[in-house]
Amino acid sequence: MATTQQRTIYTGTFIHCTDLSKTEILTNTSIGVDEHGKIAFITPVDTLSGTLKSHSWDPAEIRHFPPAPNSSKNISFFFPGFLDTHIHASQHPNAGIFGKSTLLSWLETYTFPLEYSLSDPRTAEAAYSTCIHTTLAHGTTTAAYYATISVESTDILARLCRELGQRAFVGRCAMDNADFQPSYYCDADADTAIKASRESAESILAADPTGLVKPIITPRFALSCTEESLKGLASIAADLKIPIQTHISENLDEVALVARTFPGYSSYAHLYHNCGLLGPNTVLAHACHLSQEEVSLIHTTGSSISHCPASNTSLGSGLCPVRELLDQGVKVGLGTDVSGGYSPSILVAAREAGAVSRLRTAPGVETGIHSLSGKSLITTIATTTDNESSATTSEKQARDKLKLTVEETLYLATRGGAQCLGLEACVGGFEVGKEWDAQFIDLGAEIDAGYVLGGGSVGNVQVWKGMEWEERLAKWVYQGDERNVKAVWVRGRMVVDKVAVRA
Ligand code: GUN
Ligand code: FE
Repeated sequence: MATTQQRTIYTGTFIHCTDLSKTEILTNTSIGVDEHGKIAFITPVDTLSGTLKSHSWDPAEIRHFPPAPNSSKNISFFFPGFLDTHIHASQHPNAGIFGKSTLLSWLETYTFPLEYSLSDPRTAEAAYSTCIHTTLAHGTTTAAYYATISVESTDILARLCRELGQRAFVGRCAMDNADFQPSYYCDADADTAIKASRESAESILAADPTGLVKPIITPRFALSCTEESLKGLASIAADLKIPIQTHISENLDEVALVARTFPGYSSYAHLYHNCGLLGPNTVLAHACHLSQEEVSLIHTTGSSISHCPASNTSLGSGLCPVRELLDQGVKVGLGTDVSGGYSPSILVAAREAGAVSRLRTAPGVETGIHSLSGKSLITTIATTTDNESSATTSEKQARDKLKLTVEETLYLATRGGAQCLGLEACVGGFEVGKEWDAQFIDLGAEIDAGYVLGGGSVGNVQVWKGMEWEERLAKWVYQGDERNVKAVWVRGRMVVDKVAVRA
């Protein structure tokens, strides 16, 4: 059951994204978090004592963060915890290792052998505990995890999330297509895949009445499954009222193989739809090569997309048309996709999302969304000329529109992810009634004339005197790392505490 905690007042600067392109900065503010880990009030520091009285909070029983008035001159702020909408906890040991492979060879060479090794509970425990510690230290308060085919090791991942305090969706990988994956790492048949997935989901549900750690039905991707298992998995999700995650349209070889393996369907998304897998609680990772018809289907079913830019560049998979998805009202969040992606950090995913969106505007890059019937680009930004010199004004505007701003990538990292995972009423921003899933960020001291090398900066971030918040946030996104994350809370519980900042 939910444990109660000491009421806590957080004081300082709070930054969150109120809209796709809007960031709110609340300075000299206090947020009160109640005994259930929920935000009870947000108030200017000046009016705190009156607010405490009106809420009948006894000042003698309240904890403070920072514990004493913050005398540090460092630039610091509270930010909502990040949501990683797509990460393979089971691939954490391989992060950074992918050679020159692309998706299908990478699965065979690197991924299936590693995941199989986690059938050993001690290996699973080591991989999963390091994954959770690492992602929490990077500010990830919610993760949608893929585990492995093993029910036992999937249970270990869920238990470790509960113990270490990370909000999570944990999915046992279902994979029963013997033609696609090796016999040593494959469900015996559809019935086994369905039964083992139900057993895993029920076990995770029963173990956490607080709902912090939930199961998620996880058909690995179309090629890993048969139609029978895809349909059976969809009915478990409906029956247990739990979400679904899978991959879609990541790489062109994969898309072609899906079309050959499932010839009765007009597209990858239509296959999933016909098997009952699309809906408002379904998260689809990648979506680099969708047709317009598929985007429309994803939109009308309320399914969402996990954009995994670091994975897409590492495996050379493609360039997800994020702007077009957002313009069409599709929910989009960010995923690290470890270990297709090399980094466990959603801050890096935000950075790479910005970079990929700019790469889409490079001369010669054909990017956009195709129609299903032909190969005509419906949104066309194919350029052959140099960006700056010969483009017309409208071409330049069209290219600039594709670029995601720092604020937009931070929105996707927080509120966007919360929408994908059905948590928008609960986390992703600072509002009364939301749960306190937050990170405390320290950007170090401002650099000015007379600066002595090494003095005051934190990690790689160097903030110069006179920079506005907009520039400081850009510094954080493009230069920051886990050294800037000084504390992390999930549902009010402090789960990372690098105490040094508190002095
Ligand atoms: N498609 C099927 N399995 C995987 C996986 O483990 N990672 C990625 N990125 N794509 C996949
Ligand atoms: Fe993945």
